Amino acid sequence: MAILRLDKFLSSQLNISRTDAKKLLRQKGVTVNGKSVVKGEFQLQTDNDVVSVNGKAVEYKEYIYIMLNKPKGVVSATEDSDDATVIDILPESLKRSGLFPAGRLDKNTTGFVLITDNGAFAHDILSPSHHVPKTYIVDVEREVSSDEFGLFEKGMLIGDELFKPAKLKFLGKNEVSNTFRYEIIIVEGRYHQIKRMFGSMGNPVVELERIAIGKLPLDRSLLPGEARELTESDIDLLKTR
Ligand code: URA
Repeated sequence: MAILRLDKFLSSQLNISRTDAKKLLRQKGVTVNGKSVVKGEFQLQTDNDVVSVNGKAVEYKEYIYIMLNKPKGVVSATEDSDDATVIDILPESLKRSGLFPAGRLDKNTTGFVLITDNGAFAHDILSPSHHVPKTYIVDVEREVSSDEFGLFEKGMLIGDELFKPAKLKFLGKNEVSNTFRYEIIIVEGRYHQIKRMFGSMGNPVVELERIAIGKLPLDRSLLPGEARELTESDIDLLKTR
């Protein structure tokens, strides 16, 4: 159980500044267990106390976990002077301080980005020692030969970097764009990893989309740019190895 100052609780859970939280308290908009409280320093027991703002109960969440279907042109950062970030495009209802993307997709890569304010959880998902698989759909310019398949399976040396084995599956040819579609599962998250793997074989990546992190697939009901909070069972799936 956490013990938290009431003004801190209000600012973190309602995504408002500490000043606005204090204003809310002064306006007598806040009750704890049905009794009006005006002091920001009130010590709250997050497991037992019920906080209401203007008559509506506020659920306490220590951390938040968000699935974003990243569109093209958006960068996987918290702030950027040139481009919109994955945090900028979240709906206001999901925004709170301390959010960051747990792992990066390139600006022109689409799909599943996990956003959270839980650093330890993100570290677990990202830590190279945990080898959490990430699944992508990739469109490339030409068909992968059987020798090249072998390189993906064995792991490849690019420059002086050794890439761990990746699983590659042919999904089909797109007759319109004349590209070849594969599912690829990697267990590392190196810079431009998939583009470099195919690039090293002279086979440029045309499109790249992340469709799963670990056992948790991208929710296909999310349109590009849309996001939702993870459910308990989503979080369990993410933790399943
Ligand atoms: N590999 C890449 O090359 N780019 C990404 O965005 C993710 C994996």
